[in-house]
Amino acid sequence: MTRPDSSGGGTEPTVRRTTSQSVPGASQPTDATERTSWAGLPRVEGNPTNQGKEQVVTEPVLECKHLRKAYGQLTAVDDISFSIREGETYGLLGPNGAGKTTTISMVVGILARDGGEVTVAGQPHGVNRTATKAMIGYVPQDLALYPDLTALENLRFFGNLYGLHGGAQKRRVAEVVELVGLSDRASDRVDKFSGGMARRLHIAVGLLNQPRLLILDEPTAGVDPQSRNAILASVQQLAEEGLAVLYTTHYMEEAERLCDRVGIIDEGQLKAEGTRRELVRLVGSQDEIVLTTEGDPAAAADALGKLPEVGTLTREESRIRLMVGEAAPLLPTVLAAATGTGTTVRSVEVRQPNLEAVFLHLTGKALRD
Ligand SMILES: Nc1ncnc2c1ncn2[C@@H]1O[C@H](COP(=O)(O)OP(=O)(O)OP(=O)(O)O)[C@@H](O)[C@H]1O
Ligand SMILES: [Mg+2]
Repeated sequence: MTRPDSSGGGTEPTVRRTTSQSVPGASQPTDATERTSWAGLPRVEGNPTNQGKEQVVTEPVLECKHLRKAYGQLTAVDDISFSIREGETYGLLGPNGAGKTTTISMVVGILARDGGEVTVAGQPHGVNRTATKAMIGYVPQDLALYPDLTALENLRFFGNLYGLHGGAQKRRVAEVVELVGLSDRASDRVDKFSGGMARRLHIAVGLLNQPRLLILDEPTAGVDPQSRNAILASVQQLAEEGLAVLYTTHYMEEAERLCDRVGIIDEGQLKAEGTRRELVRLVGSQDEIVLTTEGDPAAAADALGKLPEVGTLTREESRIRLMVGEAAPLLPTVLAAATGTGTTVRSVEVRQPNLEAVFLHLTGKALRD
């Protein structure tokens, strides 16, 4: 595929790679080493991908190269490559059927891949690799909890499976329950939980084994706003403590709020990836200014149309829409030009391109089709 235009300077988003890459040397898997901090990792000062913050370069916790999976004639995952560093939240943003769950099932190691490589903390990973699986916490799209057990009983059950017993189990269970905000409901049966609470409990289960990589498959789909906020806050806290997070969603707002980098996925392909700022450059980095006027906006529109900085101008009833490069520094000029014609401006709104626009640009369709 061709590289989409990027009109801005600076770092460009990575678009789907077509060249082959070598696979790093395969050291023998070893058991996860002893950990000290909450998430089992040293704290990362600043986020490696956040612009304007101090950059900390670390080895990727997860590296996927050229992942492929077909179900019969259908190519569900078609040459997907990406990597995630500690403290980084990476979002796979795409609509139903894009290939998100198939991709992460291969990353988790519950689905055999047809091609490609996965390494976790530099070690080769796959369906039979228990040492690398031990570094992953996974919260699936479909919940797998025992509804007739309490939250605590579920956690103890899964703790036992992870080989976590006695005082260590008790401490860890208390920590994860606290983190997802369920301490006061821990003794309630799961069948009394709302969908959002059950999802939060599932995240707690995924954290029991102190993973280095937490994988969440659409954790907020169909949950109430309170649980949604609790989930997003927990993920943010975990990433701040050093976890690498892989997060799938088809909610643009979540990807924008939570993820340091986003991979736009559609029809099994990673169409582009980058920070929000990098990705919106793909759509030409045009801001939109919308002026709402008192009465007829014709005179104001005429004056605004003469400004050299204004690209496209459209008028509907009492609204004038202007496409400009960067809106903020232009606002005084725009307001002066409009009011200089004797027109009263009731409101000014600035809209910046979002990931929805990027998705439309890359795929020709809306994220919510
Ligand atoms: N076990 C399977 N057998 C056959 N086809 C499958 C199987 N699992 C997934 N698919 C197909 O593979 C494609 C990708 O599905 P996948 O579940 O990975 O998408 P997704 O992005 O997770 O979608 P959603 O947002 O609905 O969860 C879809 O066309 C789906 O129908
Ligand atoms: Mg899915």
